[in-house]
Parts: sequence; C-alpha cells; structure tokens
Amino acid sequence: MTNEPAAVFEAVTKSYGSVRAADGLDLTVRRGETLALLGRNGAGKSTAISMLLGLDTPDSGRISLLGGTPEQAVLAGRIGAMLQEGRAVSRVTVRELVGFVARTYPAPLPVSDALALAGLTALADRRVDRLSGGQAQRVRFAVALAGDPELIVLDEPTSALDVEARAEFWEAMHGYARRGNTVLFSTHYLEEADTAADRIVVLDAGRIVADGTSEELKRAAGGAVVSFDLAGAPSAYLSDLPGVTEVEIRGDRARLRTDDSDGTVRALAARDAIRGLEVAPLALNDVFLSLTRGRAATPETEPVR
Ligand SMILES: Nc1ncnc2c1ncn2[C@@H]1O[C@H](COP(=O)(O)OP(=O)(O)O)[C@@H](O)[C@H]1O
Ligand SMILES: [Mg+2]
Repeated sequence: MTNEPAAVFEAVTKSYGSVRAADGLDLTVRRGETLALLGRNGAGKSTAISMLLGLDTPDSGRISLLGGTPEQAVLAGRIGAMLQEGRAVSRVTVRELVGFVARTYPAPLPVSDALALAGLTALADRRVDRLSGGQAQRVRFAVALAGDPELIVLDEPTSALDVEARAEFWEAMHGYARRGNTVLFSTHYLEEADTAADRIVVLDAGRIVADGTSEELKRAAGGAVVSFDLAGAPSAYLSDLPGVTEVEIRGDRARLRTDDSDGTVRALAARDAIRGLEVAPLALNDVFLSLTRGRAATPETEPVR
C-alpha cells in the first residue's frame, strides 16, 4: 500500500482540435515526493493536471491515482487541489470558510491544523475578502488541505505572487510535504522548480522532455559554460574550438557553451593569453531553454478553462 505510487500516467494523450496537449505522457509520481511539472505557457501542464483530477478525460492511455481512478480518489477526499482559475471570494472569515469546506469531507483535518499549516492562524478571524494576494492564495491552500488529503495538486500556485509571498507559500507547502504527503505542482519558474521540488519533470508540447533532480537535469544536459575576457583578441575562431556549441560575446566578455570544458580550456590556453577565465556548470535556465527551444510555438493567449 505505501509502496503504491501516488499517481501513474500511462501513454496518456489528449488533443484539442489539432493541438496535442498531451502527447504520450508516461509518468509515475512516487509517494512522499514533491514533483514540479515545469513548462512554458501552453506546454500541457494544466491539461495533465485536469486529467489527473478526473476533470478531463484522456483520449487514450490510462491514469491511476492512489491505486484507483481519479474519480474514486477525489470523491474519497484523498486529493486536495488548487487550480489555476481564481475563485470569487465571499464575506466569511478564513476560519469559517475552511471549516465549511472541512465539513464536506469524511475525515477532515482539524481546522486549526489546516490554518496552522497554511500560516493563517493569526488571520483566522479576518474576512476572506480583506486579504492580500499572498494571504488569499494561502487560504486557497488551506481549503485544499481541509480534507486531510494524501496528495495535493497545485496548478501554478504562485504565478501571481511577489517574491516574499511566494517564499511564504512554499514554506506552508513544505510543512504539508514534511508530514509524508505527496505534492505535485506546476510552474513556469525555474528557480521555483529548483528550490521547492525534489524532482522536476519538464513538459514541452505535451511531451516529457526531461525528468530528474535539478542536478540530474544539469548533468544530462552535459554542458558547462567557459567565460573569459577577450582583451581585444579576435573572437571568430571561438566557435571552432573543441566542444563549443554556442558563442556569446557581451562587451569584452566571451561566454562559450561547451560539451567538453576540458578540451575547450586546453585549446584556449594554447592561444593568446586569456584573462578572467571561469568554468561553470550549466545553469538550470540554460538546460531548460535547450530542452524547450524551437519546439511548437505556443499561442499568445491563455486558454479559457
Ligand atoms: N479547452 C481547451 N480548448 C482548446 N485548446 C486547449 C484547451 N485547453 C488547453 N488547450 C491547448 O492545449 C495546450 C496545452 O494547454 P495547457 O495544458 O493549458 O498548458 P499550460 O498549463 O502548460 O500552459 C495549449 O496549446 C492550449 O492552447
Ligand atoms: Mg496552465
């Protein structure tokens, strides 16, 4: 039972007209892990999440959630969710709202626990229409926690928040995850996937293009960045150096992306004097860009869902 995965996608596809929003998704979410679905706008994150929650049906393939169908898991109150669209706020207090939702579940979390986990204890008696954006988002988080779910699914939970509110949100999320629960969240912020998740699954045009820890992703991308001051030397030969896949010159600083940093540095050293040499592993941002570059163009507008 405890070894059973939290969620499994098997060869899941979903199209909207000619758009392949899910194009053969195979993914196993392990119990207790915090997994980020990382992808640009239109990559298929919300589609995958809607299907996982049984709000949308795959065209083909299968999804299981906590060993059963999505519908079974959701109806049993074992799943909490925060979806992308906003929700109209009413004139009740934070405690009243969370308490009301809790009573709709078979085995809810004590309301005070849900409020504490979401960092809302001090705001319990505040009306929900009198909150900042970050506080309101934590109320939605408390609502998602109300049923004491084993797995929580968050679709871009922080996209409208400032840096400080984001940090507070992730702290609340970590408190829930530390209780042994599973978290699946989507984001288009790299740093967020990097810092908040144990595992990153990169989606692009409905497909998984990478899956691993941020360290594994960087290693798999296999690159490094060699940078140095040109000190007036010519730069035309740089793209022909061993390993170099990309050359960027900014001011007097050359930045070479390379698959073979040793070879690149050796070749550079054999030429003119190089000053200010630095070799750095690829940043996650570069990995992400190279994974999702030049793929199907994404529409300008957010789909209405
Ligand atoms: N209900 C829908 N009708 C038509 N197209 C849709 C619908 N939902 C999503 N899409 C399209 O499917 C693709 C994936 O969308 P989505 O899953 O919302 O991506 P993300 O959440 O990563 O931004 C996009 O091209 C989007 O326009
Ligand atoms: Mg989305």
